[in-house]
Amino acid sequence: MLEHGAAPPSAGSDSRPPSPSGGLGTRLMRRKPVERLVAEGGQGEGGTLRRSLGMWQLTMISIGATLGTGIFVVLGEAVPKAGPAVIISFVIAGVTALFSALSYAELAGSIPVSGSSYSYAYATLGELVAWVCGWCLILEYGVSVAAVAVGWGEYLNELLSGTIGVTIPAALSAPPGDGGIFNLPALIVVMLAMVFLLGGAKESARANAIMVTIKIIALLLFCGVAVQGISSGNYANFMPLGIAGVSGAGATLFFSYIGFDAASTAGEEAKNPQRDLPRAIMLSLIIVTALYCLVAAVAVGAKPWKGFEGSEAALAGIMKEVTGQGFWSVLLAAGAVIAIASVVLTVLYGQTRILFAMSRDGLVPKVFSKVHPKTGAPRANTVIVSLFCGILAAAVPLGQLADATSIGTLFAFALVNIAVIVLRFTKPDMPRTFRTPLAPVFPAIGFLLCLYMMGSLGPVTWVVFGVWMVVGLVVYFVYGIRRSRLATAEK
Ligand code: ALA
Repeated sequence: MLEHGAAPPSAGSDSRPPSPSGGLGTRLMRRKPVERLVAEGGQGEGGTLRRSLGMWQLTMISIGATLGTGIFVVLGEAVPKAGPAVIISFVIAGVTALFSALSYAELAGSIPVSGSSYSYAYATLGELVAWVCGWCLILEYGVSVAAVAVGWGEYLNELLSGTIGVTIPAALSAPPGDGGIFNLPALIVVMLAMVFLLGGAKESARANAIMVTIKIIALLLFCGVAVQGISSGNYANFMPLGIAGVSGAGATLFFSYIGFDAASTAGEEAKNPQRDLPRAIMLSLIIVTALYCLVAAVAVGAKPWKGFEGSEAALAGIMKEVTGQGFWSVLLAAGAVIAIASVVLTVLYGQTRILFAMSRDGLVPKVFSKVHPKTGAPRANTVIVSLFCGILAAAVPLGQLADATSIGTLFAFALVNIAVIVLRFTKPDMPRTFRTPLAPVFPAIGFLLCLYMMGSLGPVTWVVFGVWMVVGLVVYFVYGIRRSRLATAEK
């Protein structure tokens, strides 16, 4: 790896900045050399990010960002679509995630910077595609923070009613459109995560590791208790709504896998990113897939699939039904409250680091790459992103947010698969600490699976996505194209 702050070496012809006289096409296609991406690692306005994260913490960041609302809340919405075959839906979504995870692992090991797929696209597919990818990542990270925070409110209410017998009234715990005015708990959890993040990456990682441990214990506890309520009759009508139902539920459940790539946003704060990032990404995906399949199998065995219709905090409900005692469901709700908070923390972290990378490239304002000299955290960035996500979480219903997150993520994943193929051809000799097996076949399968999943999402989600993209392109052509550091370097 290059020395921190070393001047970037001259790039290969494939990545050389275009000449000032380049036309629009040349400007849109300009690529940031891999060597320059790596050489700039950590550098922000007025300071540098600190390399403090080891392989275990990186794995915890990815698990932290993945395991949360999907299993604790969205599972309850997916069962009525697929029946007990929701277990297969989890496998389908997991396989889709796996192919993309292999591509992420390869790129994270060779381009270990903080921008995740945005940076990978910048090195391979050009500035316009990189911008589009970064814009999609705002759906994956920024909007999913909001979606996840909404799920947190549901379990908080469950916990409050089980312990002190009160719940936050609907007006203050649901957004307009879901029977309320304002989702206060969702705003609160985002603000709490902001406070941790302002303390720096190391402190946040420590808090996250504790929360991840608690959420894994909570899910294992669920399995241990709910397994006693399993009745084989509940599996009898295994696929009541056919393969279409199973695949539709798979698309919904894809949301539960989002976040395994979060370690790739920590490339500039990892101690040994080339070695640890690929391992952290793959390990976290294996752990969460195993947990999801286990929990889903127990949940649909313990409760008839039709009973999931309209259920909130489904897992806590099953605990109560199986044991007949509120104590267990309160314990699970407490675990879920902590679990989902850690998703908010890590995904918010990821969003700030992606904007950090985009800001350093000049595509978004400089304020996002200002680093606080004491904590090594991008403070202004953290506050702005937290306020944006907090307000979104307080005002928009979960279902809409979750689907918008999924489509943006799938698009970004599709681009990562393409980026692997492109780099294999344009930079075949680049050092790679992890190689996707059977490339370009596996990345091509990953790409097609992402497109297939996108196709399973509803028309409203596509309209939201289209509008989001148009807004993104306007922002790029009004701001980024002229402010890009590759453009200013030409002048
Ligand atoms: N995968 C994350 C969750 O399920 C977004 O909460």
